[in-house]
Amino acid sequence: MRVIAIDGPAGAGKSTVAQAVAERMGFDYLDTGAMYRAVALETLRRGVDPDDAAAVGRIASEIDLRVTGERIFIGVEDVSRKIRSAEVTRAVSLVSTHPEVRTQMVRRQREVAAGRNVVVEGRDIGSVVFPDADAKVYLTASIEERARRRTDQLALDRDLLEEIRTDLWRRDEVDSTRPESPLTRAPDAVEVDSTDKTVEQVVDEIEMLVSGP
Ligand code: DC
Repeated sequence: MRVIAIDGPAGAGKSTVAQAVAERMGFDYLDTGAMYRAVALETLRRGVDPDDAAAVGRIASEIDLRVTGERIFIGVEDVSRKIRSAEVTRAVSLVSTHPEVRTQMVRRQREVAAGRNVVVEGRDIGSVVFPDADAKVYLTASIEERARRRTDQLALDRDLLEEIRTDLWRRDEVDSTRPESPLTRAPDAVEVDSTDKTVEQVVDEIEMLVSGP
């Protein structure tokens, strides 16, 4: 079992990069953000307050979650697109602050990865979920670049750039100041700034870290 951990703030390009690294190295790919998003979706569907730690914790322990590569299921329902909605995106940071939710997700993430070679992306992968990962990357980009990418990715009007920027900033703030496993660079993680780099260049850099020059 080999694990490549890719952490970093929202919109730094983690998904694109993690999938490309997985493909190039013949590894599986696990998007842990999608798991927190699925819990947020289920929370909203059940009309539960995302701030209600006990109720959201129960959902996290009960939910029938299945992740396969880029797809995620609740029961038999493919929710891969629904978890990307603006509503879920707004609720997910709050949902993922609850310690019980994190305990449940971390346990499931370790189960999914067990015995496989896998690229895992998230916020606390190198620091908490897989502290013994074979390679740890902390992927960043300037907030302006992250907002631009997010706007293009969602095919949104450039007029919304400021709003997206504020939304990213707010999410980074919640993710990095929560007491339970906040977004942080593990001391042994290598920081890769993708601001002025192509996906290809970032993937080359990570491959070099894993395999050596
Ligand atoms: O990567 P993403 O934007 O899909 O993640 C959605 C949210 O999930 C993010 O705002 C914080 C949370 N998250 C987390 O707390 N821990 C992780 N390992 C992954 C995501």
